[in-house]
Amino acid sequence: MKPENHPTASTTRHLRRVGLAMSAMLVTTGLLLAPLKTAQAQTQTAANTPLKVGLMLPYTGTYASLGNAIENGFKLYVNEQGGKLSGREVEFIKVDDESDPSKATDNVNKLVKRDHVDVLIGSVHSGVAMAMAKVAKETDTLMIVPNAGSDAVTGPMCATNIFRSSFSNWQTGYAMGEVLAKKGIKRVATITWKYAAGDENVRGFKEAFEKGGGTVIKELNLPFPNVEFQALLTDIAAAKPEAVFTFFAGGGAVKFVKDYAAAGLKKTIPLYGAGFLTDGTLDAQGEAAEGLFTTLHYADSLNLPKDKSFRLNYAKTFKLQPDVYAVQGYDAAQILAIGLKAVNGDVSKKAEFAKAVEAAKIDSPRGTFTLSKAHNPVQDMYLRQVVGKENKLVGIASKSLNDPARGCKM
Ligand code: PHB
Repeated sequence: MKPENHPTASTTRHLRRVGLAMSAMLVTTGLLLAPLKTAQAQTQTAANTPLKVGLMLPYTGTYASLGNAIENGFKLYVNEQGGKLSGREVEFIKVDDESDPSKATDNVNKLVKRDHVDVLIGSVHSGVAMAMAKVAKETDTLMIVPNAGSDAVTGPMCATNIFRSSFSNWQTGYAMGEVLAKKGIKRVATITWKYAAGDENVRGFKEAFEKGGGTVIKELNLPFPNVEFQALLTDIAAAKPEAVFTFFAGGGAVKFVKDYAAAGLKKTIPLYGAGFLTDGTLDAQGEAAEGLFTTLHYADSLNLPKDKSFRLNYAKTFKLQPDVYAVQGYDAAQILAIGLKAVNGDVSKKAEFAKAVEAAKIDSPRGTFTLSKAHNPVQDMYLRQVVGKENKLVGIASKSLNDPARGCKM
């Protein structure tokens, strides 16, 4: 510092006096004006600044197409509202989470602490979603899960500020357990990826299947996202179960269905799955998927007015057919819109936001659904069968299925 920049003792005293006088002034006026100003400023902020939506989704890897469909569905709803939610423009900030749980905490922190998003939308992979939910809970950031079924997110980790527009892993597995038990099937082998989504789908399946008198005779696994299925298919052939239940999704599901048929197993040991096995994958699976039965909260032929308009608009906008992921993205945006409307766009009002969403009937393309106390959809689970390029509705496998939300204290 140059000598002339050193304050002398008298200038320091002078500055201190001015400072004291100024702060005294601020205190007096501030006491009167502060509450008024803050309230005004908040309303103005909410109305004038864009709503920052953090999309944390996989855009590469085996779940890339799922991430894209979710984003499309979300944006379709926002576009239908003229690009605004509760009067606020919507700004998207995207992170490719690569379905990698080891990078998830850093990724979500970028959105919360660097970009200061108003709401987190994500993700597809259960391990990633759990890491996101932990940060969302700690920082009290609004979060809507548009796919990942992690039972924990609406179980032990449940929170006022966390919602799910999709399903719990327990739900998709449980519905197929009921179906196979009712068919009178007794001995089933399971095969899936070894992580939360696979484990929990199998656990839900087993719970219903064993309740109905069946036994799971073999549980086979491989690490996510591996697709070297040959050795496990040999194990299935040797175990000779009456049927196989599986959870695979995205690119892995395409390869599994093809390998299962190519190994000659499809004709001898019927394959059943959580519906992700054949959703958004039929073009790539071709003949190998024909005839497969799966359970899911969506089907291609629901014949509901809301579904018809959704499918038409989606196809027009993106030149693609929608799938379950697109529906979940669309409904994540609907949930956000319902909550925002109740708080006039002010996301800091978490309790009021939650109250409105908890009371809502969500007009989904899948059919109307509500959220449970733990904020998971209470919904019909459909039995579907692959016919050509569609997952055709066969019937309702489980009416208004409610996840037990074990461990949720809300
Ligand atoms: C999950 O990891 O929870 C998950 C991923 C893909 C799906 C369904 C569930 O299609």
